[in-house]
Amino acid sequence: MTTMDSLIGLVNRIQRACTALGDHGGGNNAISSLWGALPTVAVVGGQSSGKSSVLESIVGRDFLPRGSGIVTRRPLVLQLHKTENGTEEYAEFLHLTNKKFTDFSLVRKEIEDETDRITGKSKQISPVPIHLSIFSPNVVNLTLVDLPGLTKVAVEGQPETIVEDIEDMVRSYVAKPNCLILAISPANQDIATSDAIKLAREVDPKGDRTFGVLTKLDLMDNGTNALDVIQGRSYRLKYPWIGVVNRSQADINKSVDMMVARRKEREYFETSPDYGHLVNRMGSEYLAKSLSELLESVIRARIPNIISSITKNIEELERELDRLGRPVAIDAGARLYTILGMCRAFEKIFKEHLD
Ligand code: GDP
Ligand code: NA
Ligand code: MG
Repeated sequence: MTTMDSLIGLVNRIQRACTALGDHGGGNNAISSLWGALPTVAVVGGQSSGKSSVLESIVGRDFLPRGSGIVTRRPLVLQLHKTENGTEEYAEFLHLTNKKFTDFSLVRKEIEDETDRITGKSKQISPVPIHLSIFSPNVVNLTLVDLPGLTKVAVEGQPETIVEDIEDMVRSYVAKPNCLILAISPANQDIATSDAIKLAREVDPKGDRTFGVLTKLDLMDNGTNALDVIQGRSYRLKYPWIGVVNRSQADINKSVDMMVARRKEREYFETSPDYGHLVNRMGSEYLAKSLSELLESVIRARIPNIISSITKNIEELERELDRLGRPVAIDAGARLYTILGMCRAFEKIFKEHLD
């Protein structure tokens, strides 16, 4: 494993540890400020813009719940780990320790069940994330947070506030300066109406940390193309836009294999009169690779920041323990000591990465 690879893995471990300790960064405490210091990639887009399809293409597997309405109702922290040896592909959930999933349809079922466990079969949303790790020789090292799709109207059985609730949840992620925004917009709709771009523009007006993805290039009207968007003339971003072609609903109904879909996508770009000249900068595989490299470099650049946030955490925890008076009651102290030990370990490892 290279040093660069292990940086994404290291941030993964801190995020898992924070969640395991019952904190997901929504609060106003030491751990939440640590969350804020950790670079993440959040997936943002309107309903049916193609978010799930993009994630599945990046992973190269079918594993996300599907359906109409609001399918993603809790954040899904998806951690991809590239394995060097063997061909085995498997998944693990943080909430199910020691259970290895090799059947990805069971991963889908577990995401659905675990969503319902917290939201109680209602169509409510919850900010408590589900952590899923996928180990495979076919993925890049990357962590992405899938979020509920932005929507315009509440449907039957949903509280009136759902539209705002979703937007607030998504905003709580993308407003953080260390969050990279993977903004998904469908090419068969006017970019000016994209929910993803609307929110990204609000929190990142200069487009410095927004990664624009255009889906459904194959569904544009004959005689039109998306070159104005892809070449940054419609909406300029620091990183170039990437166009993708995911499986259509008909492909999904026919269970077209993900690897076949990747090949068809490559052929689409290779033979396209509009995008042929951009073939090396388009498609899901290129997207995955670019994001992985970007995340690694952003984490590397933020190491001093992460260390100072961890150090601040340690100081706060020590003050808290002093205030309680040592030795403290096992229950009250155990959690704080656990967090303290964890922070000290992470501080040490990050410092080793400084030089
Ligand atoms: P989400 O709601 O944002 O997660 O969107 P999905 O990934 O579930 O996609 C919604 C629908 O659009 C599904 O029927 C997909 O098959 C279809 N879709 C997504 N991306 C593309 C694409 O690039 N081309 C085509 N033809 N269909 C797509
Ligand atoms: Na959209
Ligand atoms: Mg979806």
